[in-house]
Amino acid sequence: MFGLKSNKSKAWKKLEQEYKRMKKVEMRALFAADKKRAQKYTLHQNGLTLDYSKNCIDDKVMSALLGLAKERGVAQKIKDMFEGKEINFTENRSVLHIALRNRGKSQIFSDGKDVMPQIREVLNKMKNFSEAVRLGKFKGATGKKLTDIVNIGIGGSDLGPFMVCEALKKYWAKGIRCHFISNIDGTACAEVLGGLNPETTLFIVASKTFTTIETLTNAKTCRKWLIDSLGEHAVAKHFVALSTNKTEVKKFGINPENMFEFWDFVGGRYSVWSAIGLIVCIAVGFENFEKLLDGAFDMDEHFRKAAPESNMPLILALLGVWYNNFYNIHRYAVIPYDQYLQYLPSYLQQLDMESNGKSVDKENNFVKCATGPVLFGGAGTNVQHSFFQLLHQGTEPVPVDFVVPAISHNEIGEHHSILLSNVLAQGEALMKGKTIAEAAEELRKAGKSKKEVDALKKYKSFTGNRPSNTLLFKKIDPFALGQLIALYEHKVFVQGIIWNINSFDQMGVELGKQLALNILPELQGKVLNAKHDSSTMALIKEVKSLRR
Ligand code: F6P
Repeated sequence: MFGLKSNKSKAWKKLEQEYKRMKKVEMRALFAADKKRAQKYTLHQNGLTLDYSKNCIDDKVMSALLGLAKERGVAQKIKDMFEGKEINFTENRSVLHIALRNRGKSQIFSDGKDVMPQIREVLNKMKNFSEAVRLGKFKGATGKKLTDIVNIGIGGSDLGPFMVCEALKKYWAKGIRCHFISNIDGTACAEVLGGLNPETTLFIVASKTFTTIETLTNAKTCRKWLIDSLGEHAVAKHFVALSTNKTEVKKFGINPENMFEFWDFVGGRYSVWSAIGLIVCIAVGFENFEKLLDGAFDMDEHFRKAAPESNMPLILALLGVWYNNFYNIHRYAVIPYDQYLQYLPSYLQQLDMESNGKSVDKENNFVKCATGPVLFGGAGTNVQHSFFQLLHQGTEPVPVDFVVPAISHNEIGEHHSILLSNVLAQGEALMKGKTIAEAAEELRKAGKSKKEVDALKKYKSFTGNRPSNTLLFKKIDPFALGQLIALYEHKVFVQGIIWNINSFDQMGVELGKQLALNILPELQGKVLNAKHDSSTMALIKEVKSLRR
């Protein structure tokens, strides 16, 4: 149905031709032929460097990719987003996470209304509340300081604040600890609550819709846990809500005064800049949260104003399209070389795969080309000892983004130099590889016999020519993190434009939710003999028998 047939526009056909030429070219040769290649294919933006020279590209390819961006009207669509046009066309909504970090004075309109005053008002409320908690002025019901902050949310209401809190752990206030409950699995609640004292615990219920079953169930469990030991009156001092839905917040039993609002023009996976970032503010302080916004704003301005050939998100997006649609490689890996960034890949998974895992285009047709790739990753060097084998010698290449801070928050002995030497070596190895002849030579030098050399040389060879980008910056601080997240947000947006899909809805998660609601009463024995396929029927029966 989709994925293999190209969309035959002029720019697309040009890229197909370029692919036919480029697939025979080795990156090694390109590096050998042009001493300035790295310089040519490196971009800088306020402390963030993108080296994209280790890609299967040359000037002709880049010009054809930029031609595709032009043909698809990317520049106009960027403008549309910043002007609050309803680019979320299936839900008729503006897409204005960029307004949440608009650090300039400009107005931004949605539906004819400037959204900036309400955004600033909520930011101010977040500032006051987070400072009050940090200083111990906002106390628990028994007068104790709140020291343990539990964010209850899932998807965009969890992954963003969780990833950012972990990334900025070095900035956490002394005496404040952050916890996250997302999964409906009771273990998530049990493990977090087990270590906490109700008197010193603040729960933040984070849900855009305030209807998500996981979050509401977890919140109810936590509410009961609190009431059981401190009584009903304690809820007002221990529960706040982050949501767009005042009615549901009230219904749940949280005073709307304890609610921090955001709006429909903020997508869940783009919401860490909104009230959803409250736990970040409490953990790292409002000033640092503002620096995170500053970093994102810096990237927004770059994205809006930089020429296409030096526009980082655009270039990253086009490289992704190059592999996804012309090399037919529908996966990529993001590998941060910093322990504090270990959750970046999970965060980006939702950002990329929930945004661009789509099959119907703007004109209501099934797409004719592959859209969002599979994203996976983990922290280096750990993953070098797990899935990197496949990256180096598997049958299909996997493009990689290496995310690298030059300085660690924990410069202990040689640790960080070793870490850095590894990431640089991985990029080099993926690009250069090792020919069979080189492998044979190495074996010979190591004293192996001819028979041994012949037996081993292919196993020891690496095809190379495997693409990677390197994103390098000084240190993982709030500003750099803001830049980095916004970079990927805009990359995903540009790819959505190229594929002509809506990157801002997520209807694909609905069916499973609906069916789970049907199955729940069956598991509880409230509905008998409902109709399903034979596999689901058998599994329901077996689950019931195992739980009896
Ligand atoms: O599962 C889909 C989804 O709607 C995500 O897009 C969203 O981030 C998550 O669920 C949580 O939704 P909410 O914030 O409304 O609870």
